[in-house]
Amino acid sequence: MKTIIEPFRIKSVEPIRMTTAEERDRCIREAHYNLFNLHSDDVLIDLLTDSGTGSMSSRQWGGVMEGNEAYAGSPSFYRFEAAIKNLMPFKYLVPTHQGRAAENILFTVVLKPDSAVPNNTHFDTTRANVESQGADAVDLVIAEGVDPDSGHPFKGNMDIAALEQFIEERGVENIPLCMITVTNNSGGGQPVSMENIRQTREVCDRHGIPLFIDACRFAENAWFIKLREPGYADTSVPDIVREMFSYADGCTMSAKKDALVNMGGWLAMNNEEWAVECRNRLILTEGFATYGGLSGRDLEAIAIGLEEVVDEDYLKYRIASTQYVAEHLAREGVPTVLPAGGHAVYIDARRFAPHIPPLQYPGQSLAVELYRHGGIRGCEIGTAMFGKRPDGSEAPARQDLVRLAIPRRTYTQSQMDYVVEVVQEVFARREQLRGMKFTRQPRALRHFTGHFDYVD
Ligand code: F0G
Repeated sequence: MKTIIEPFRIKSVEPIRMTTAEERDRCIREAHYNLFNLHSDDVLIDLLTDSGTGSMSSRQWGGVMEGNEAYAGSPSFYRFEAAIKNLMPFKYLVPTHQGRAAENILFTVVLKPDSAVPNNTHFDTTRANVESQGADAVDLVIAEGVDPDSGHPFKGNMDIAALEQFIEERGVENIPLCMITVTNNSGGGQPVSMENIRQTREVCDRHGIPLFIDACRFAENAWFIKLREPGYADTSVPDIVREMFSYADGCTMSAKKDALVNMGGWLAMNNEEWAVECRNRLILTEGFATYGGLSGRDLEAIAIGLEEVVDEDYLKYRIASTQYVAEHLAREGVPTVLPAGGHAVYIDARRFAPHIPPLQYPGQSLAVELYRHGGIRGCEIGTAMFGKRPDGSEAPARQDLVRLAIPRRTYTQSQMDYVVEVVQEVFARREQLRGMKFTRQPRALRHFTGHFDYVD
């Protein structure tokens, strides 16, 4: 088979500032070993997130000039609305400046302190937004979803039996909504099958619970369905997307992922009563109903991004380029979550550095070393991110991963080859990695702003 090439050529470039290992050693110390504190100029390959870090197309930049900045009723809003409804036909649409604003508005309106929200796996901001209402965020992904060795094709699936049991125990009256995250970001960027979305819908229907999709990476999820789920090989990606959303009552979305833009999001739903309250909340916190927290130009870029992201040549390249990194690492024995997710490669830090106990954050230690050694910025998704409970106690997270998230349409194959080399070199001397501790941490979302140091 021939190399799957980038289905675009580069029209505008952004220089990378080269750094030395000595410089990086100083930078990371000054950042208190928290990669979020680095100046991005000091990073060579930035794989901290795939969120808002991708490249827009020339068509999107053209759309930016067409943006209409009317306060109310901008044509850009109607183009944005039409592009979303073409794929996700919900009745009411609330534009927001990014995904977490949509989560915040939704949960403020529908949750009470004794509520609970089941999800395959909540992303960190989703969990924090549920918990900030005093409610419980409950993760019910299938067992294979937390087994890095399982070859299950849809490791993001909801555990249907566990969902049934949870609803029974907690009581329908305490569960205002159920969510499914596609793809399952915190569980390794793993997809959810159509059959599983359908089954989740059936359980929700039986109990009268609305189902919302956290839609961030919907197109990547649809591509996995096309590749892996029997019966979908000949279905177009837009049709797969439409079927996925036909089982839901609403969605939250970060346009910074699969709408191929640098900023934006939305909340959509069919329930009119909720929509009216959400819209009021939007006007209070984000902006008027036809722009939310966004400019007209952002709405245009999103409308065009939604057409480009369901293009099969794009998705084929996108998923192949993530798999390329994962497969090359696996070949050298680096423990990663396999099969590879859609937007990121997840290194299993607990197995990479088994000598570091989870409460000494092996993922953080590895992420710091990848930066020091090669200027690569990844992100710990493990005990530093999830180990602290709302009551202040601490326990190991289910997994300690380092996520190398790949921005869309941004890095070339030789840059990815460099990433593979750096990880391999750190792997070759992995026993030198040392445990870490927090020297300062805020009450919530401590991984963003906390300070670390080495244990000894
Ligand atoms: N849901 C999921 C599954 C996400 O991955 C994110 C963001 C959000 C919600 C929130 O969206 O950032 O626009 O407010 N994930 C980014 C990441 C930050 O790095 O995975 P946002």
